[in-house]
Amino acid sequence: MDKPMMFEPYQAATDIDVVPSYFPIPGLGILPVNAFVLKAAQPVLVDAGLVPLSDEFMEKLSCVIDPGDLRWLWLTHTDQDHIGSLWRVLEATPKLRVITTYLGVGKMSLFEPLPMDRIYLLNPGQSIDVGDRILTAIKPPSYDAPETTGFHDPKAAAFFSSDCFGALMSEPAENAAEMGVENLREGMVTWATVDAPWLQIVNRTLFAKTLDRVRELSPKLILSAHLPVACDMTEELLGYLGTAPEAQPFVGPDQQALEDMLKGMTAT
Ligand SMILES: [Fe+2]
Ligand SMILES: [Fe+2]
Repeated sequence: MDKPMMFEPYQAATDIDVVPSYFPIPGLGILPVNAFVLKAAQPVLVDAGLVPLSDEFMEKLSCVIDPGDLRWLWLTHTDQDHIGSLWRVLEATPKLRVITTYLGVGKMSLFEPLPMDRIYLLNPGQSIDVGDRILTAIKPPSYDAPETTGFHDPKAAAFFSSDCFGALMSEPAENAAEMGVENLREGMVTWATVDAPWLQIVNRTLFAKTLDRVRELSPKLILSAHLPVACDMTEELLGYLGTAPEAQPFVGPDQQALEDMLKGMTAT
């Protein structure tokens, strides 16, 4: 894969669809970039895909729900792989509001301000009723942006974890278990060192407590923006993430390595 690509939506559960894409990262593999449609009484889109794939994203989204039926867009954070179709969804759905934090609104205003009557501010620990279930905002154990909130859906027994629990992969999959234990462990730990380099300086005891908070929710599904659906794998994923602070810090290729890579590419 040499460019970002949308894939076919698939079901994570009867009331949750995944709208997946993959983003190639030279030298590291591919990164899944998932949005989710939570078919609650008031349907929730979780994140809005990659910026360069907006046309394809809207097409795939329409296969799982009429965008006009969405009531909420849960924006886990404002990175470019989460806001791709945000403005199009806002336009398509006048009654939709964006669930985010004060910092999320602030960071969006560096780009294009969100209209104040279209936002809903929810801090970690606070909840929102979406008709048939109450979603509680949770700051995931690892993240790359201060505005990040994931959430817990007790009805679907799902933890939507934003960037946390992501993994670099060698090929696409619809279930994290398909990756095999070693690929999953290595892909997850490497991703954690890339996405949250601060893990190497965290207090290990406090970090373990943040993992315990996810454990206490005992979610059946971990739904990461950057991992295929993980069903009944919570303990395994917590175990891998727990080792990330001890992992080799990620250092990207330097100029010499880049020139060597480019030379290699022109020689073939
Ligand atoms: Fe991110
Ligand atoms: Fe992300």
